[in-house]
Amino acid sequence: MEHLLQQIEEYKKEIAAFSGADEKTIEEFRIKWLGTKGLVKTIMGEMKNVPNEKKKEFGQILNEFKQFTEAKYEELKASLNSELRTKNSELDLSLPGDPMPLGSRHPISLMTNRIISIFQRLGFAVAEGPEIEDDWHNFTALNLPEHHPARDMQDTFYVQQNPDWLLRTHTSNIQIREMKKGKLPIRIICPGRVYRNETVSARSHCFFHQVEGLYIDENVSFADLKQTLYFFAKEMYGHDVKIRFRPSYFPFTEPSAEMDISCMLCKGEGCNVCKKTGWLEILGSGMVHPNVLSNCGIDSNKYTGFAFGMGIERPALLKYGINDIRLFSENDIRFLKQFTSAV
Ligand code: PHE
Repeated sequence: MEHLLQQIEEYKKEIAAFSGADEKTIEEFRIKWLGTKGLVKTIMGEMKNVPNEKKKEFGQILNEFKQFTEAKYEELKASLNSELRTKNSELDLSLPGDPMPLGSRHPISLMTNRIISIFQRLGFAVAEGPEIEDDWHNFTALNLPEHHPARDMQDTFYVQQNPDWLLRTHTSNIQIREMKKGKLPIRIICPGRVYRNETVSARSHCFFHQVEGLYIDENVSFADLKQTLYFFAKEMYGHDVKIRFRPSYFPFTEPSAEMDISCMLCKGEGCNVCKKTGWLEILGSGMVHPNVLSNCGIDSNKYTGFAFGMGIERPALLKYGINDIRLFSENDIRFLKQFTSAV
């Protein structure tokens, strides 16, 4: 047994001194020591020649030797891996990284941003507000008291637990909130999502997006409204676009007007998109009703203002030649990644 112990000590020295640097020598190490015919197995085979009373002691020494050899092998493998990693990362530094797929902006966002940027050039600031609103900010303050028949123009989703709450039907609630802050003049543009209880079809949806605008100061006139919207139409739809105003009715504006632009597809000749009229209806507008101003604590003898509002989906459908409004909210990446610019 003495010579076996001596042998093991020598093996251990040899193993400790081993420094294999590559895969091949490390594999040779494994075969020599830990393989099925390796020296660890061989020396373990000596167990049968050890006298019974020494078996326990010798067994422990053998086990410890085996663990020692295995630990060395693991250590060799680990150092090889980290060496490979540093080698690889040194190489990779000069290579382009893995490509990261880029997302794209939603066509509704592209359209909204384009509209905002035009009005920003005229000094309008973006204002936002809540989508869940109370009745007062969405209707009453806008000169639409309870039971006013014009409420039927906007089919409304009410919150079941509290019928005073609703999903806003337009972004005019933002305008009320801004007016109530009492800081004048006001020149804001209000983008956002709005909700109406309508049957979902290719042409209409129960939610959609709007951009509304509000300008309040001393001596704001209908001429300012017209000029502002004319500038917008030219920037948005091209310099040869024509505009026309048709008298209309909104409870919160007086007088009210709807604005049409000449159809950009047929240049006013008449086509299927403009239903042969040569004109496309794009927004509602008017001079802010004095009742709305006084509801928000603004002196309507001193201040006047104009407001306008437009949907985003319709112009986006036109711009991109899309024929189904539902595509905007289906989140199909194949549809969404087709749009890169609203210009
Ligand atoms: N709030 C109106 C709507 O959603 C649009 C509008 C805004 C009309 C401002 C006139 C003035 O239909």
